[in-house]
Amino acid sequence: MRIDQYTQLYGVIGNPVRHSLSPIMHNAAFEDRRINAVYLAFEIKELEDCIKGVRSLGIKGLSVTIPFKSEIIPFLDEVDDLAKRIGAVNTVVNEDGFLKGYNTDASGALRALEGKTDISGKRVVIIGAGGTARAAGYILKQKGMDITIANRSRERGMALAESLGCGFVNLKELTDIKHDILINTTPVGMSPDVDECPVPQEALQEDMVVMDVIYNPLKTKLLAMAEARGCTILNGLPIFIYQGAEQFRLWTGLDAPVTIMDEAVKKVLV
Ligand SMILES: NC(=O)c1ccc[n+]([C@@H]2O[C@H](COP(=O)([O-])OP(=O)(O)OC[C@H]3O[C@@H](n4cnc5c(N)ncnc54)[C@H](OP(=O)(O)O)[C@@H]3O)[C@@H](O)[C@H]2O)c1
Repeated sequence: MRIDQYTQLYGVIGNPVRHSLSPIMHNAAFEDRRINAVYLAFEIKELEDCIKGVRSLGIKGLSVTIPFKSEIIPFLDEVDDLAKRIGAVNTVVNEDGFLKGYNTDASGALRALEGKTDISGKRVVIIGAGGTARAAGYILKQKGMDITIANRSRERGMALAESLGCGFVNLKELTDIKHDILINTTPVGMSPDVDECPVPQEALQEDMVVMDVIYNPLKTKLLAMAEARGCTILNGLPIFIYQGAEQFRLWTGLDAPVTIMDEAVKKVLV
């Protein structure tokens, strides 16, 4: 790949951000599609200054990660409806200085789940009530799924359940309810705390689909326990790849080379 006076710049903003695999994934995609662009990771402190820099340098697109997904909204010129409803932006498109925000975490989660199972009429329990739970909850609700939120802190869990118009249970009550799909959206079980699991084994039944948004490790303790119980399991890598694929489409107007992106990320994960 040649970097020259026409090379366009993209990047991820966050803090911390050095763990991000987005540069590996997006640079592989740009190279495969022969797009003269590079994608970097920016660990930023001042969001307002960063956005001024994006505008003045003409940075073409951003991924946005923790802790800026909600904070960035007032600095943008427009936010699409789904991102507005979720209250979080993970993607920015810079169209000649006009910055528009999107949320591709939601569609990434949906595409990953639909790739594994038929979701129509299914009951899903979402563990967690943070940004990822919110994104998944909104899009699965739109699809007509029967959702229950289970969260450590009751207040936050109830607030999300209320805004989704769905039920809430404490994590301890999880064994009392029946569901077809369980999605972990908490960081419990993520490297280095790989021996942790957000739910008791009794919450897992053999005909369930269990999805974890974590992809490091690829098989969390939750997924290992679910597999041992005979559940269908799905790790967080497809969500990451699909949310990135949708970002690529928003930035370039082209379909993303999903297999290339997946292979590039797997190479550094294994
Ligand atoms: N695969 C992907 O592409 C992808 C995309 C986005 C995010 N993620 C991952 O998703 C995870 C969550 O991200 P987020 O932005 O939603 O985080 P967040 O907004 O901080 O929310 C975290 C949630 O996890 C719960 N939680 C945290 N520690 C817990 C513990 N020890 N026990 C029980 N519950 C706990 C919190 O409960 P309380 O409300 O009680 O604090 C909260 O509901 C992260 O691991 C992130 O890397 C993956």
